Amino acid sequence: SVWRLIIINSWILFLYCYANNHFYKGYEVVRVLPKTNEHLQLIRHFEDNYGVDRWSEVLTINRDVKMSLPRKQAPKIKKLFKQHGIDVKILHNDLEKLIQKSDDISKQHKIRTKRLTVNIASSHLTGYLRYQEIVEFLKEQHRRSPPLRNFTSLFSIGSTHENRSIWTIRIGKPSARRNILIDCGIHAREFISPSTCLYMIDKLIGEVNNGRVSLLSVFNIYIIPLLNPDGYEYAQTERRMWRKNRALNGYYHNPDSKCIGVDLNRNFGYHWMENGASTNPCSETYAGPHQDSEPETRSLQRFIKQSSRHWDAYLTFHSYGQYWIYPWGFALHMPDDYIELNNKATIGSEALKRVNGTLYKIGSAANLLYESAGGSDDWAKGVGQIKYVYTVELRPSDDMNDEHAHFAFMLPETFIEPVGQETYVGVKGFLRSLITSR
Ligand code: ARG
Ligand code: ZN
Repeated sequence: SVWRLIIINSWILFLYCYANNHFYKGYEVVRVLPKTNEHLQLIRHFEDNYGVDRWSEVLTINRDVKMSLPRKQAPKIKKLFKQHGIDVKILHNDLEKLIQKSDDISKQHKIRTKRLTVNIASSHLTGYLRYQEIVEFLKEQHRRSPPLRNFTSLFSIGSTHENRSIWTIRIGKPSARRNILIDCGIHAREFISPSTCLYMIDKLIGEVNNGRVSLLSVFNIYIIPLLNPDGYEYAQTERRMWRKNRALNGYYHNPDSKCIGVDLNRNFGYHWMENGASTNPCSETYAGPHQDSEPETRSLQRFIKQSSRHWDAYLTFHSYGQYWIYPWGFALHMPDDYIELNNKATIGSEALKRVNGTLYKIGSAANLLYESAGGSDDWAKGVGQIKYVYTVELRPSDDMNDEHAHFAFMLPETFIEPVGQETYVGVKGFLRSLITSR
C-alpha cells in the first residue's frame, strides 16, 4: 500500500506539472479590425467577461487589434465577432508553441553567448533573470562602484503582498542636485522591461568606473528595475502571460473568490477608474478595490513624495509597441506643457533610433493608444507634479510588417542587448537635453 501511495502521488505530480506547462495550449492569437464604436465596445466587453487578453496597445477604429483567446471560449468569441461583422484572422493557433519558440531562440542564444562573454557583470544579462538573481545582480553592481565616493546606494522602497522587497538603486554623485526616477516591470509579462533597467544600471556604473560622470554629476538617477516582483515571478514560473500583481482580491471576505491580481497601471489615484479600466477582479485591467490600494502602488508614491527630493523626470518602461508616450492617459486632452514633453520625447527617440534604426511613435497615451486611467505616469504628473513624465513601450513594434512583431511579450533573450543598448542611448540623449534647457 506504500507503493500504491507512491504511485498515486507521482501521478498527481505528473498531471500537475503537465497541466501547468501546457496552460496556453490551444489558446489562439488573433487579429481583428474594429470599424465602428460598437466594435470597440464589443472588444472591451470580451476583455472584461470572456478572458480575452488584448495585446495591442492601440484600440481605435480602423487599427488592427491583436489578442489572445482562451481555448474554451475561442469558438464562441469568434462566432460573436463574425455576427457583428468583424473578420477574425488567426495569427497563431497555439500560444503555447509561440512561447516555446521564443524560449528555444533564447536557449540557442545562451549557448552561443556563454562562449563569448568576458565581462562578468553583463554576462548575467544574457537571460531574463529571476527575482533572486536580480537582487544578486544589484548587490554586485553596488559593490562594483567606487565604494568610498558613494556613487551608488541600494535600498528597498517597500514590500509586496508576497513580501518581496522592491529594490531601488541610486546612481550619481551625492552632490548632484537633480533627480530622475526610472522604473521597470510594472507589468509582469513584459520581461524586456526589467532587463532593460538592469542593462542601464550596468552601463551607468560602468561609466562611473571609467570616470565618465558628466550626467551623474548633475543627476542622481534612481532605478527601480522590478516594481512588480510577485507578478514577475509568477509569470516566470507559472503563467507566462501574467500581467497584474498577486493581490488576493476579496479573499478574506469571500474565500471562494478566485481571481487574483490588480493591474498596477490602473490603480494609481488620479482620475482613477474614469476610463479604460475594469471593476471586475478577473479582468486583466482590474483597477483594484479602491485607488492606491496596492502595496506596489503605495511604495512608489511614498518614494516620489518624500519631500526633500525634487524630481526632474519620471520614466516608466513597458512593452511592447515602440511608443514614447506622455500624459494624459485618462482623457484625450493634453497637458498644458505638452509641446515641451513632445520635444524632449523626440530628442530621446531620435538618439535611440541612431543606434539600430528602431523607430518609435510619440504622442499622448490616450491619443496614441486609448484612454485609460490609473497609470503611474498620470499620477506622477498630476499628483507628483513631475514635469517630464513618460511611459516607454519597448520592442517589438505592433506593426504587421515588422518581422519581430509576432514575438509580442515573448521577445527572445537575444534582444536584451540591442534593446538595452538603444534604450540607454535614448535615455541619455533625453537626459542631456534636460541639462541644456534649464
Ligand atoms: N500599456 C500601458 C498600459 O496599458 C500604457 C499606459 C499608458 N499610460 C496611461 N496612463 N494609460 O498600462
Ligand atoms: Zn505594460
